[in-house]
Amino acid sequence: MFQILATLVLVGLTTTTRANSDVTFLTCPNYTAPFAAAIGVANTLQSMGYADILGIVSGEVPSHFDGLPDVTSKYSLPAIDAINTWYCHPDIPLAQTNELTSAVREPTVPEDVTEYITNLSDPTQFCQDFNRKNVKDPVEFYTDVLTKAENKSVTIVAIGFLTNLHNLYYSSGGPALIEAKVKELVVQGGSCNVTSNPHGAGYNLLYDLPSAEVVTKWPSPITFFPGFIAGQVTGIKSELNISDKSPVRFVYETANFTGDFKFGPHDILATYYAILGLSDGSFTHGNANDTGGLQFVPNPKSPVAVKEDTVWNYAVTPPASQHYLILNNTIESIANKINGLISCYGKEQPVCPGQKVCTK
Ligand SMILES: *[C@@H]1O[C@H](CO)[C@@H](O)[C@H](O)[C@H]1NC(C)=O
Ligand SMILES: *[C@@H]1O[C@H](CO)[C@@H](O)[C@H](O)[C@H]1NC(C)=O
Ligand SMILES: *[C@@H]1O[C@H](CO)[C@@H](O)[C@H](O)[C@H]1NC(C)=O
Ligand SMILES: *[C@@H]1O[C@H](CO)[C@@H](O)[C@H](O)[C@H]1NC(C)=O
Ligand SMILES: *[C@@H]1O[C@H](CO)[C@@H](O)[C@H](O)[C@H]1NC(C)=O
Ligand SMILES: *[C@@H]1O[C@H](CO)[C@@H](O)[C@H](O)[C@H]1NC(C)=O
Ligand SMILES: *[C@@H]1O[C@H](CO)[C@@H](O)[C@H](O)[C@H]1NC(C)=O
Ligand SMILES: *[C@@H]1O[C@H](CO)[C@@H](O)[C@H](O)[C@H]1NC(C)=O
Repeated sequence: MFQILATLVLVGLTTTTRANSDVTFLTCPNYTAPFAAAIGVANTLQSMGYADILGIVSGEVPSHFDGLPDVTSKYSLPAIDAINTWYCHPDIPLAQTNELTSAVREPTVPEDVTEYITNLSDPTQFCQDFNRKNVKDPVEFYTDVLTKAENKSVTIVAIGFLTNLHNLYYSSGGPALIEAKVKELVVQGGSCNVTSNPHGAGYNLLYDLPSAEVVTKWPSPITFFPGFIAGQVTGIKSELNISDKSPVRFVYETANFTGDFKFGPHDILATYYAILGLSDGSFTHGNANDTGGLQFVPNPKSPVAVKEDTVWNYAVTPPASQHYLILNNTIESIANKINGLISCYGKEQPVCPGQKVCTK
């Protein structure tokens, strides 16, 4: 494990900071294990000086699509706050719609996966000072942060549905604000290979498809991290050298995930890319000629009850450049980097403030 950490730190992250990408949004309407690890990885990268998390937006109400329940749980923000607090960033702003439910697991997560979110959000079990009075509405929050941001400085990572981003786009002044301030939108989802995976838009896009179609209009560059690419990365271990008290450890142990994170590394990898970019060497663009964009096409065989899916169309010209990612390194090397980040602090809890920072 220690060797893995060394591989990560020395090879992965020292030489190549992503130019001008110290400002990152994490939008995260999800409470499965990879999401917890993704937030852990983002926090660790912030401690290492690679990111400044401007906020975390949770809970989407896919009102445009009434076939599935929403995922706006009253537990998700306190749980996120517990993770941020563990990593010494207790004040990362949080946003959520106020249409809260008491859901304890995402609708598609099987009942036999033990829920952990009530434990994580309980301040007697995990330190956090969450106060709902500080929670803003997502669109108001995005607008506020983007208004204050410098031009083309904000990266948004969407590892869930695109409902709130759709609502931002259609808010007054939305397109101009996005175009001016957003450097890149990273979307975990989208099918980007007509040959090998023509109908694999993925859950995040299909769940609220009418909102997802905002990507065809979105005025900043978009990078898609398709599920079938991210899913190739096995070896992100749950048996890591991390503290028993870590909320990330608690999540995967309680949820009874075994071996590789049960729901795949998608969210972790998309977050990792969003912060470090291509310069890390793990990924490269699949559409090497910088052509094309995601297009929605009819698909009666879609696994979710919707009528459309996505394909990559090289003939489409989107409002701003669009790319999709493919792996550019061995699966083992990429998994080792992620494992190294998750187990960055070893058995110790990060020391706050002036917390331990991984040796570069
Ligand atoms: C979760 O919290 C409940 C009480 O709220 C407690 O009984 C249970 O032991 C906790 N689960 C774990 C795995 O600690
Ligand atoms: C939750 O995370 C899983 C694993 O990354 C992902 O497949 C799923 O789409 C996410 N669900 C939501 C509601 O964002
Ligand atoms: C930011 O971009 C706007 C146009 O989108 C431009 O008018 C303004 O001068 C830019 N600001 C800076 C500081 O470059
Ligand atoms: C799509 O998948 C096919 C089959 O796996 C592969 O040969 C081809 O290179 C892929 N195309 C792109 C653009 O990734
Ligand atoms: C964990 O999962 C394994 C394999 O799926 C199962 O046999 C075991 O009963 C589960 N343990 C708990 C505590 O749910
Ligand atoms: C992909 O890997 C090759 C070989 O290691 C490297 O030369 C290249 O710079 C990488 N591409 C990206 C975009 O990182
Ligand atoms: C990219 O450009 C090269 C050289 O012009 C061409 O051979 C190749 O077919 C193009 N690939 C795509 C996916 O357009
Ligand atoms: C686990 O982390 C501790 C530091 O917290 C370190 O001393 C120990 O060597 C690590 N163990 C392994 C197997 O990497």
